[in-house]
Amino acid sequence: MAVEIRQRPTRSRRPQASKVASRNSLNDLTGKQWIKRTKSWLICDSRRYHRNRNTELHPARYPEELVIEFVEFFTKRGQWVLDPFAGSGATLIGCHETGRHAVGIELSDRYADMSRQRLTEQGASGCHVLNGDASRVDDPAFWEAGLNGTMSDLMCSEDSLPRFDCIMTSPPYWDMLRRSRGGVQSTHKQRAKQGLDTHYSDHDADLGNICDYEEFIEALGGIFDRCARLLRHRGYMIVVAQNVRVPEGEVRPLAWDLTRRISQTLSFQGERIWCQDSKKLGIWGYPTVFVPNYHHHYCLIFQRK
Ligand SMILES: C[S@@+](CC[C@H](N)C(=O)[O-])C[C@H]1O[C@@H](n2cnc3c(N)ncnc32)[C@H](O)[C@@H]1O
Repeated sequence: MAVEIRQRPTRSRRPQASKVASRNSLNDLTGKQWIKRTKSWLICDSRRYHRNRNTELHPARYPEELVIEFVEFFTKRGQWVLDPFAGSGATLIGCHETGRHAVGIELSDRYADMSRQRLTEQGASGCHVLNGDASRVDDPAFWEAGLNGTMSDLMCSEDSLPRFDCIMTSPPYWDMLRRSRGGVQSTHKQRAKQGLDTHYSDHDADLGNICDYEEFIEALGGIFDRCARLLRHRGYMIVVAQNVRVPEGEVRPLAWDLTRRISQTLSFQGERIWCQDSKKLGIWGYPTVFVPNYHHHYCLIFQRK
């Protein structure tokens, strides 16, 4: 009989200092903890989200537990993380809970306010939200106006831009939120009925409003090129993305196309697959065609070399 072995996402624990190798320049993990986090898949399901009516408003969040899994591997305590598509602030909260500093950029005023409120409630003074367009991430004026000098220790004097130890983010998955599958039970319809957001915003700069697929990949790739300028030498960037199926039936390999595009600037180091094991299955193609229930995302790992 096949036995399913589940990897339990670990709660943030302070590693035993004595067991952390003195040569470990990447993180604060012991050898045993390090090895566990190199498995190419992990289960992190809906029970792992911080939930309240406020965060539920956002239509596409990832769990704070997922953030913890990665920032504990790719940074040490006290280091700085950037999320250019901060949404409800999951990256910032995960960083605060593990003693990291973070900056999130978010286009929507509503979601930026939501993140700020969450940070205030948690007393997370080491984490900040900038309300604006991530395509301005390498514009010194954007940082100057947004942070009022609060991060002066992070600024590089050469180009007046901050340097981050790690970037962790999840961008819009093309304009998929705009394309309701229309089924009676679709998540889109259920959310609309409950008065929750079904797309991010109507803003022109919102990447979730670009309908042309190639144009979307190029616009997003351009933002990641700019983010890469802010990543320190040998720093890692983790991008959570998914292949998507359009309602007409075709699957667009978004995660793979994005990997190819980002690889023009950063070195692709592999992926970890985030499995959602408790998500409800939809009966999309039954009983005539195969339609996958996409319950996994790719956590794509890149490094600046
Ligand atoms: C997939 S969501 C991020 C969710 C986030 N990881 C969380 O768990 O809450 C993508 C976010 O990117 C934002 N966004 C879209 N275009 C943007 C842009 N040009 N600059 C900054 N944020 C943008 C959207 O408003 C949305 O909140």
